[in-house]
Amino acid sequence: MMPWEFLGSAHVPGNGGKLSLHKRGGEFSIRVDGRELMNSRVHGSEDALAELTCARIADRPSPRVLIGGLGMGYTLAAALRLLGPGALVVMAELVPEVVNWNQGPLADLAGNPLQDNRVNIRIIDVGEIIKTEHQVYDAILLDVDNGPEGLARKGNDRLYSRTGLDAAFAALRTAGVLAVWSAVPNKDFALRLRQTGFKVDEQRVRARGSSGGGQHTIWIAERAS
Ligand SMILES: C[S@@+](CC[C@H](N)C(=O)[O-])C[C@H]1O[C@@H](n2cnc3c(N)ncnc32)[C@H](O)[C@@H]1O
Repeated sequence: MMPWEFLGSAHVPGNGGKLSLHKRGGEFSIRVDGRELMNSRVHGSEDALAELTCARIADRPSPRVLIGGLGMGYTLAAALRLLGPGALVVMAELVPEVVNWNQGPLADLAGNPLQDNRVNIRIIDVGEIIKTEHQVYDAILLDVDNGPEGLARKGNDRLYSRTGLDAAFAALRTAGVLAVWSAVPNKDFALRLRQTGFKVDEQRVRARGSSGGGQHTIWIAERAS
């Protein structure tokens, strides 16, 4: 079997681990401290995160969307496919090297979504945007880690806490949607979403889309008022 080639690494700010990028033929892997965070061959649930969310908001005039976590750009690309020309997508990525990788070796994987003129890429903790903006977004999509269980960065726990969810609720417009990706179900987190005031739809999606694979969880939480 072809060996993995190491392409680069980066420190995740804020108590995070070491991210690294690896390539084997046409396949790419991003790892955290040596454990795979994502693989370019498996992105059905990353696509679904955008598809399930944008289906609910795409017909709104000039929808504004915030996505946390660029990774390999699959969620961003899926959102752009579903949103019209008047949409604006703020793409927040914490690690500058991840943006560089998406402008370099990873650019073609998802069709180079950073080149789309509806995208405003920001190198920032998505939590910083969420806590400072009020009634701005039709949707906020979070795939910054393994989900509420974490893996890459302790500082992300706050996003999934009651404080973080209150901030996300406030950052959304009426009928706005908070969508959260997770590797595993989490009853406490689902309860916290409901206690924050969201109407919650919990979906299990296949890691490889129609090709099957393991199951991931996506919460689609709507701000009703
Ligand atoms: C699992 S990947 C996202 C995968 C992405 N959905 C895709 O389709 O490729 C997680 C990404 O979130 C980034 N990240 C982690 N914490 C973050 C934060 N607080 N704000 C913004 N980005 C963050 C990581 O650097 C990584 O690029």
